[in-house]
Amino acid sequence: MKATAIANANIALIKYWGKRDADLMLPNNGSLSMTVDGLHTKTTVEFGDFEADTLTMNGESVEGKELDQVIKHLDLVRGMANINKKAKVASENSFPTAAGLASSASGFAALSVAAAKAAGLDLDEKQLSILSRRGSGSASRSVGAGFIEWLKGEQADGDDSYGKQVATPDHWPAFRMIVAITATGEKKIKSRAGMSQTIKTSPMYQGWLDTVPADLDVVRQGIRDKDFTKVGETAERNGLKMHATMITTIPTILYWNPTTIAIMHAIQDWRDEGLESYFTMDAGPQVKVFCLEKDVPELQKRLQEIPGVRETIIGKPGQAARLVEEHLF
Ligand code: DP6
Repeated sequence: MKATAIANANIALIKYWGKRDADLMLPNNGSLSMTVDGLHTKTTVEFGDFEADTLTMNGESVEGKELDQVIKHLDLVRGMANINKKAKVASENSFPTAAGLASSASGFAALSVAAAKAAGLDLDEKQLSILSRRGSGSASRSVGAGFIEWLKGEQADGDDSYGKQVATPDHWPAFRMIVAITATGEKKIKSRAGMSQTIKTSPMYQGWLDTVPADLDVVRQGIRDKDFTKVGETAERNGLKMHATMITTIPTILYWNPTTIAIMHAIQDWRDEGLESYFTMDAGPQVKVFCLEKDVPELQKRLQEIPGVRETIIGKPGQAARLVEEHLF
């Protein structure tokens, strides 16, 4: 009753911001992301005769809210498998946790795949995506490979709201994301609390929702056609629209720092010179820069020269979440 899984993070080209059902984690809008090779979480789950559920992250014991969320997720799996054994869970991230790098996505995808297997369940990719979604909405997009659309769904039970592949990693192997780390440390406002406050208070929120379906159509088709300009322009604008709803939330949610803004200006200037890339930010100050493989060396060099950029990480279209043999304990 022990299994280990690896799941990659994902970075959204069309963002998810807001839930219509906070218990089932059903979104107000569809979203679309790239699964990012190299930014991953590895998780081992063992069900056994333990006294309590325990969790370690990067070797440190975790308690409180984070442990509670993991226990809640284990309870879902125990319910599905009809078992009541406690679990030992160990997890490791290959990147800074909770700095707006979507560790909850890779985290809950890896936990779902490992826990389902350890509990003896045999779930397909859609079922694993639905299970992952219950832990963190964006985790529904970290189960599959390449480019994934999280379908908004219409059903009350959420069975039609899961991550569906738009294109495999091999379809567009030249697509790259450069993650520019502009700050380390925990983010100030977690996505979950932030999005619920946005729905309650931002006058921009409805406008955001109204424009997402058209953005999704453009980016989905742009990926199929490998039309980099179309995908980049629409994704950049979509991310900015999400941030407009954040900034206009009461109290305001401003995730950017001065380096975030310096990078946005630089990318626009470089684009005017003919060096094409686009930016997007999530619930944190890091900037994710989309580009094509041929431009990575020049962009990476220039990004690293911007004061405040601490590190850059290159990601390409990644593999699906998978079971591995080497356990963490
Ligand atoms: C800004 O999936 O972390 O990264 O569903 O409450 O766990 P919960 O939120 P989460 O939100 C991610 C929001 C985002 C945009 C995105 O990845 O689509």
